Amino acid sequence: MGPVTPTETSPRPALRVCPLLHTADPRHSAWWRHAVIYQVYPRSWADSNGDGIGDLPGITARLDHLRRLGVDALWLSPFYPSPQADGGYDVADYRDVDPLFGRLADADELIARAHELGLRVIVDLVPNHSSDAHAWFRTALAAGPRSSERDRYVFRDGRGAGGDLPPNNWESVFGGPAWTRVTEPDGSPGQWYLHLFDPAQPDFNWDHQQVRSEFESVLRFWLDRGVDGFRVDVAHGLVKRKGLPDHRARTHMLGDTEEAAAHVLDGHAPEPTHQIPYWDQDGVHEIYRSWRTVLDSYGPPDRILCAEAWVEPQERAVRYTRPDEMHQAFNFDFLGTPWIAADLVAVIERSLLAADSVGAPSTWVLSNHDVVRHATRLGFPPGTRRPNGIGAEDPQPDRELGLRRARAATTLMLALPGSAYLYQGEELGLPESTDLPDQLRQDPTFVRSGGEEKGRDGCRVPMPWTRDAPGHGFGPGPATWLPQPKVYGHYAVDQQDGVAGSTLELYRTLLRLRRELSLGSGSLAFVGGYGPDVVAFVNGNADGDRLLVVANLGAEPVVLPDAAEVIEASAPLGDGLVPTDTTVWARWPWRAGHRTTDSLDA
Ligand code: GLC
Ligand code: CA
Repeated sequence: MGPVTPTETSPRPALRVCPLLHTADPRHSAWWRHAVIYQVYPRSWADSNGDGIGDLPGITARLDHLRRLGVDALWLSPFYPSPQADGGYDVADYRDVDPLFGRLADADELIARAHELGLRVIVDLVPNHSSDAHAWFRTALAAGPRSSERDRYVFRDGRGAGGDLPPNNWESVFGGPAWTRVTEPDGSPGQWYLHLFDPAQPDFNWDHQQVRSEFESVLRFWLDRGVDGFRVDVAHGLVKRKGLPDHRARTHMLGDTEEAAAHVLDGHAPEPTHQIPYWDQDGVHEIYRSWRTVLDSYGPPDRILCAEAWVEPQERAVRYTRPDEMHQAFNFDFLGTPWIAADLVAVIERSLLAADSVGAPSTWVLSNHDVVRHATRLGFPPGTRRPNGIGAEDPQPDRELGLRRARAATTLMLALPGSAYLYQGEELGLPESTDLPDQLRQDPTFVRSGGEEKGRDGCRVPMPWTRDAPGHGFGPGPATWLPQPKVYGHYAVDQQDGVAGSTLELYRTLLRLRRELSLGSGSLAFVGGYGPDVVAFVNGNADGDRLLVVANLGAEPVVLPDAAEVIEASAPLGDGLVPTDTTVWARWPWRAGHRTTDSLDA
């Protein structure tokens, strides 16, 4: 590459490589320390039988998409028997497959085929609550107050005259009270049961020995079928504070609350999660220690646990990934960070230091089935309150800007050391559906918040595979359980496959390079000198390869050092310049000890 002539708007920066923030993993470290894990939402990935609902045979038939994409593993959201009151996160039987999605044999086939293709399989475990259709809950209702059957859930007498008031003031995450009153078998108004989520999701009593042994047995059931790990739903919720004391605030874990947004603006830390009597109580950790023993008895290769734990501050969050607990926890801090360079630098630094303090890999994630897709989220001005769903009458994103930033954000994320999670469709640059008619919405948040929150259906719309097929190839017929937005055809897999510059090809290239350069197990040192609107760092691997990563979030293009050889970029570069909202990967023969601009350019 010839010398880059600095222009007035883009003077050559005096770069300096900061001290190493994070050191590389040793060669051949465990697979999960650097794995890229792709989340499949089974309802919405591929339908094999034309009923408009994705299913396990549909997934198996499409696994080659994941092999070609270059991910290491897939995580399946719940496919267990369920009334689907919360998209399957209301499990009626932990050891079977819902007929909607297939049969147990289909799960076995999926696992076997994935393993043939070199893909590991992670399933979702939902231990905080079951469905109200679970046999244990049915028996508990029938057995009546103060029975041992009720003791496996959290039943209490109501307060006030006649027990007409809920036992305490806790609110459900989906809105409304966290308690529902039952009618006793004799027809009288009876006790109340706790549900931190929907009334169809009664919370288990984790002080009960049978609950504990049941879940260890469920772990073994799926481990025996060959799964490589579990994503643990609401891992911070299982244990409640003794006496179930009142607590004022409602948790919105899916979008920013006014309160959380205000905290960000005024620079205050939000309240530590464990002050809320139903989150992050110390007692959860012994549960995960016992699970770890179960998992370890199946390795090698390691079977893993990944915590979904919305916990502040980070010093508490990392306790879930201490060496004898879970392997990983989702980094929702990263997901929630606005498109502001200083904030990204801060969250990367915080995350790596926190994870390193317990010897765990950091994880990175931008989208999942609970949040507005990042190609849409980033199409709003930075600092906009993160919504829980978008409706047709809400402000609409700038789709082109959102995609440009999403590509830049992913290119940044996939260069970070640790493990990364992708959500189905993001490899297509898929936007959120932002104009779903309210009467088609199925997320319980929508109804329980009185429509105040649109909820999560917009990120769960069936995948477009083929532009010109009915339902864009989601299934054999035109049926899709949620309508696909008009623009989805344009994003279909067949429109991007083999097309230079497409988002799909960008993801494929990034994942291939990430593997070749061992970026997931690399080191990280920030590069200073670009000014406040750029995130720049070097990822180095054990073979001495150095990758320079420059993400430009500023209004003006920035210059790369002379010796940098660009290997991938989220958008075309102008003359060695990195334009606005673009991330670049460049080989860079920098060695420790190089400090000045001159030596950087040598
Ligand atoms: C987790 C899941 C979410 C579900 C909730 C209750 O947050 O990701 O989809 O609604 O748990 O199970
Ligand atoms: Ca189907």
